[in-house]
Amino acid sequence: MDTRPIGIFDSGMGGISLLRDALRMLPTENFIYYGDNLHAPYGDKTEDEILGLTSDAADFLIDHGVKALVLACNTATSASINMLRQKLDVPVVSIEPAIKPACEAGGDGKVFMLATVATTMLARYHALQARMPDPDRVINVGCSGLVDRIEQGITDDDAFDDILDRCLSQYHGMKADSIVLGCTHFPFIARAIERYFKLHFTGECRLIDGNAATVRQLERVLDSSQLINCVGEGRAEFFTSGDRDALFPLFERFLNAPIYYQKL
Ligand code: DGL
Repeated sequence: MDTRPIGIFDSGMGGISLLRDALRMLPTENFIYYGDNLHAPYGDKTEDEILGLTSDAADFLIDHGVKALVLACNTATSASINMLRQKLDVPVVSIEPAIKPACEAGGDGKVFMLATVATTMLARYHALQARMPDPDRVINVGCSGLVDRIEQGITDDDAFDDILDRCLSQYHGMKADSIVLGCTHFPFIARAIERYFKLHFTGECRLIDGNAATVRQLERVLDSSQLINCVGEGRAEFFTSGDRDALFPLFERFLNAPIYYQKL
């Protein structure tokens, strides 16, 4: 049994959407969540800036004794997963936009991949898209502005229409088979996104995110590296680079559970 915690990292509170699944699916594991809220959003930054910030965050979690690291940030994955895997001695699992299950689900409509601008521009994501059987079926939409608003705790169903109009109005009326939530902040506004698509698009508009698949991958990696902890009740500890007093109540709201934290 390896009771050391698993580090989960995101630019802010997006990774809490993955942590929610991890706590449910791996209830005996311990977790340390680190949100770099001070520097969010990463999605409007350059690749080098994202690389530097992600590397610092990984160091922070390694210093806290994690046995594995989860990049719960599609943007950080796109910019820095290769560097992290070279640099770190612990296994690194990372999320990527779930276009594969969306494309495999079939249909003759489009797959809309909503993510940060950085994710849609970086080579790693383009390589993933190129591996799809019909890459042109995937429409990539860089949604600048959504993350800033979610970081403020805004999640109302009609609070994002202006941004979604700016990013999506050129596609109105198309058939949308799936909408891939390619940013871990977006599950918190899934209802707002679904409502918008149902108003302006045709087709099933199925929402897909990669959180559960990433947790399953984490479980496989822990198992093959003999790092599993399967006894007792796990717990999660929280850290942020931002203002804890303002942010931790939002962490609790997004997690839908009380949180425990130590002074930095
Ligand atoms: N939650 C992050 C992601 O999955 C990005 C948010 C940001 O722009 O900082 O891409």
